[in-house]
Order: sequence, then structure tokens, then C-alpha cells
Amino acid sequence: MNEEILKAATLLKQGNVVAIPTETVYGLAANAFDGNAVKQIFEIKQRPLFNPLIVHIKSIDYLENIVSSIPPKAMILAKHFWPGALTLVLPKKEIIPNVVTAGKDTVGIRVPSHPTALELLNQLDFPLAAPSANPFGYISPTTTAHVQNQLGAKIPFILDGGNCQKGIESTIIGFENNEPILYRVGAISKEEIENCIGKINSKTKAASSPEAPGMLSKHYSPRTPLMVSDDIISDLEKYKNQAVGFIVFSDLNLNASEKYIQVSTTSNLEEAAQNLYAAMHQLDAAGFELIIAEKFPETGLGISLNDRLYRAQEVEFDESTLKELKTLTR
Ligand code: TXA
Ligand code: MG
Repeated sequence: MNEEILKAATLLKQGNVVAIPTETVYGLAANAFDGNAVKQIFEIKQRPLFNPLIVHIKSIDYLENIVSSIPPKAMILAKHFWPGALTLVLPKKEIIPNVVTAGKDTVGIRVPSHPTALELLNQLDFPLAAPSANPFGYISPTTTAHVQNQLGAKIPFILDGGNCQKGIESTIIGFENNEPILYRVGAISKEEIENCIGKINSKTKAASSPEAPGMLSKHYSPRTPLMVSDDIISDLEKYKNQAVGFIVFSDLNLNASEKYIQVSTTSNLEEAAQNLYAAMHQLDAAGFELIIAEKFPETGLGISLNDRLYRAQEVEFDESTLKELKTLTR
């Protein structure tokens, strides 16, 4: 038995909060059956109590312990995608405390595929409630260093599982009248879902009382203003002498420097997903005035990546930021 996993398990059994790796992003985990342990997650993240958490379980068989019914299409999806980056929102049993679900009668659930997360869950006789391990509204962490920098001082332990392989949060699907609704695009594309169960409707627009507040328009943000570019070649030229960092997807043969981060070397969206948040973290720490990120192709995972870029961008991008920049030449 890996000692690190044992340590995480011991801390969690004692009611502590521990950062854990998953294949999507790092999570901030606590015993999902222990309301007091879960409350600490909200305090550490400064997360509003109206924003429910995802519960991580060890296997599909465990579902019946925490949900009261399973629509047929939910079962098909679970069998197809679990363990994996799909969260299903289902009617909860009473054993799940209200603080986990923000008072809702449904609970978001997934079986993570990261071997360390699974091994940890198998050491425990309770599931783990875990949102992404970042301060509320900030970029999700995909490495232990990201967690350490953002929350290290507030948590007793970070379980190391290496760099997250998917790099973007799970796709969330809820059910209304037994029919699936896409709440959040994520690591599994809508196409993949539809290949499995046919056409589904989406409710992924920002709203004042969102079903999935991952949909709050301002989310996943660096501290540095971020602008999405749909003409990266001209923006590279326009801002080349300014304090701007670039996140680039197209293969433009840029000379690597601290100003430019190429998120894929082969125009591969999976590779871009793996690297996007790390690029945002890195440019945010470098002290630029602005981050410009190239819009991804609107297909497959590119749709999920663009969703995150637009949420990271100021809702109303402030033109005055750009005016100030123009006078700032380095
Ligand atoms: O990949 C992931 O999903 C990661 C890893 C750690 O599993 N977790 C994650 O959690 O991204 P978080 O808290 O950052 O986002 C969870 C989202 C929130 O937007 C929340 O509103 C939604 O899941 N959610 C959870 N339970 C829900 C429910 N009962 N109804 C609607 N939305 C729900
Ligand atoms: Mg989050």
C-alpha cells in the first residue's frame, strides 16, 4: 500500500480536507457523508454555499447507496463512460448531507479514472465530495504545484498523482423527465455523448441562478485580464512589443519564449486541453498586463476549451485595458 495514499485516507477518515488528483483536475476532497468536513471545503475555497459539489464514488455499483433512482439513459452513460470524466446529476438519498448539494434534492456524481483516486476511494467506506482545488472563480489546478501555490497554506496534505491527463473539468449531465440535459461541457465532448445516447439538449448558458454554477459567466479566470482572439496572427503582430502573454493553438513556428505558450505542437485538442490551464497559470504568474488566447476550432473538445476561455475573459471586456496597453511599450 502506497504510503501517500494511506496518509490521505487517514486524514480523510479524521474529517480533514485533502487535495487529490483526478484525471480532469485536482480536487479538494472530504468525506461526503460528513457535513462538517464538507463545510471546510467551502471555507477553504471561499466558495458560496449555493454552489453544489461533485461526489466521487469508487464504482458504478456504489451508485445505489446514494441515489434514489437512475434514469435508463443515465445507466447507459455510466456504463459507457465510467470510470471517467462524466458527472451525472441524479436524485439523492438522504445519506448525502444538504451542504454537499447546496440544498438541492439532486447530487452530482462521478467515478474518476485516475488510478490514485480510485485506490484512495477503495481505502474508504465513504465517497469523496470534491470541487476543483482552486479558490472560487480562479483557474482549476492540473498539477500539485498549482494546488500548493493557491491553497497549500490552508490544507494539511496534497496527494500527488502527477499532471492531470485530461486537464479540463468533467462534462456534467442532468436529467429532466428522464431525459438528459447537458449542464457543462468538459473533458468528454457533446459528440461523444450523442454517439452513445443520441441527441441531447443543452442548458449551458450563464444564468443568475444556474443549475451548474460552473456556468457562472465569470469563472475559471486568471487574475490577469484575458482576451480571446479569433485572429491570432494579427494580434501577435499588434501586441508583440507589449506586456502581453500569448496562448497559441495554431502551429505558427513561434520561437519559444516566456511570452508565447504553444498548447499543442500537433494541433491536437486533447494535448491543448492537457496544457491550457497550466499555460494560464504560468502567464498569470509572469506579471503580464494582458493574456491573449487563441480561440480553438469549434469542434469536439475545442467547444469545451472555448467555453473555458470565454468564461476566463471578462464578461464585458474592458476596452480601457487595451487603451492603456497601447501606451505601454517594452
Ligand atoms: O472534473 C471535475 O468535475 C472536477 C474533479 C475534481 O472531479 N470537479 C469540479 O468540481 O470541476 P467543481 O465544483 O469545480 O464543479 C462542480 C460543478 C459545479 O458547477 C456545480 O454547480 C455542479 O458541478 N453541480 C454539482 N452538483 C450539482 C447538482 N446537484 N445540480 C446541478 N449542478 C451540480
Ligand atoms: Mg471548479
